[in-house]
Amino acid sequence: MVVLIAIIPSVYLQFKLSREQMAHWNTQVDSRRQRRLIETNLIRPQHIAEMRLYGIVKYLMDLRSRLRDADELRRLEFQKRYISKQLLADALQYGAEVVALIWVVGQIISRAQPVGQFLYIQQIVSRALSTANSLVSSLSSIDEDLANLKDYEEFMKYPTAVGGGAVLAEAPAEVRLSDITYTYTGGSTQVLQGISLTIRAGQHIAIVGENGAGKSTLIRILAGLYQPESGQVLLDGQDLRTVDIRSWHQRLAVMSQDFLKYEFATAANNIYFGDVSLPRDDARMQRAAQDAEASDFISSLPQGFENHVSNWMEDPRGRKGSGLSGGQWQRLAMARNFYRGAPFIVMDEPTSAIDALAEHRIFSRLFADKEHTIIAISHRLATIEKSDVIYMLEDGRIAETGTHDELVNRRGRYFRMFESQLGLDPNPAAGV
Ligand SMILES: Nc1ncnc2c1ncn2[C@@H]1O[C@H](COP(=O)(O)OP(=O)(O)OP(=O)(O)O)[C@@H](O)[C@H]1O
Ligand SMILES: [Mg+2]
Repeated sequence: MVVLIAIIPSVYLQFKLSREQMAHWNTQVDSRRQRRLIETNLIRPQHIAEMRLYGIVKYLMDLRSRLRDADELRRLEFQKRYISKQLLADALQYGAEVVALIWVVGQIISRAQPVGQFLYIQQIVSRALSTANSLVSSLSSIDEDLANLKDYEEFMKYPTAVGGGAVLAEAPAEVRLSDITYTYTGGSTQVLQGISLTIRAGQHIAIVGENGAGKSTLIRILAGLYQPESGQVLLDGQDLRTVDIRSWHQRLAVMSQDFLKYEFATAANNIYFGDVSLPRDDARMQRAAQDAEASDFISSLPQGFENHVSNWMEDPRGRKGSGLSGGQWQRLAMARNFYRGAPFIVMDEPTSAIDALAEHRIFSRLFADKEHTIIAISHRLATIEKSDVIYMLEDGRIAETGTHDELVNRRGRYFRMFESQLGLDPNPAAGV
């Protein structure tokens, strides 16, 4: 009875604490979701390249830390309030237990009751056993932690990205790929086999080719994300390996084929994440959204640009974010790419999910300005035909080069690939 009564305060406090923990959990759902979504963004291999290129990794890690710190701080605060009371309750509980034990021992000694003695010893043995059990599980978890620590040490031994190198003072006037070959680690075939091409500032380049021809790989090499097996990427004649890679990335906006979705963020921030090196510029953001034809659907969201774009998230008033269609997500990614304001714009299948009319308008606008160098990979003729130079890749080699008209007139591989999209009269001589 004494022991039962003595544990009441402790149980009561535990109960209140867990209530408070529940309440706290409810206020932190959004922040935890946000953290989880940031983590998902950060660990996806297909996204890390784009995130590194945009220099946003540290920004997101910091954001995640801030969210975690705020959460932990509040949790610690109310735990601190409970700690002295909990200590008192525990002291009461253990005090009662000790008193009860002493009383039991006294009974055994004074009366020498065999049954009581047996119970007492049985209690001691079972307690000792459970203590030994928990000791074993603690030891095994220590062992597990040590093993993890070894993994961590091994991971930290990996060489980090090459720092240093010459900082580019300005955007290069010429980017040249010279005899590039590339084989994926563990791969048996050479994905790129001696690619040479020159891109001059202001040019509009299209890269075409069948699935698996090596187009996306070429872009990753151009961006310095992969090192070529042999050959060089030359920026105004300077090998990319000797250039401070961040200063090249600052001039580069790459929209990858598996474009990123920042599901934890608002529409505005999805665009802003194109360049986090400066504070958010709303005018610039709206311009980028317009150029990517994203402003109409964003404006029609209940809270416009400040609306969350994934229905995982809620605004502070509890309204759900809005789900976007595949094409809307892609337009948002394109707006982010434009927001970056980089002189070199690289787009890998930028319009795969965008309807044909919007694609036509976006590219007409983009190609009208001669400020940007545009490198577009596409399977759609509307995007390709306006380019100054088209490179057709086949099995890691450049099979044909030229303007759209030249390549069509050649009636070669390019012609055959796009024949169905050309809308040519199969029998022009027949007339109407
Ligand atoms: N991470 C990788 N690891 C190993 N092999 C890869 C990897 N990525 C691509 N490959 C291989 O390299 C080749 C070229 O791939 P790449 O992605 O460059 O093609 P692509 O021209 O962009 O094709 P698509 O039109 O389908 O986008 C393919 O045969 C592919 O299987
Ligand atoms: Mg590709």
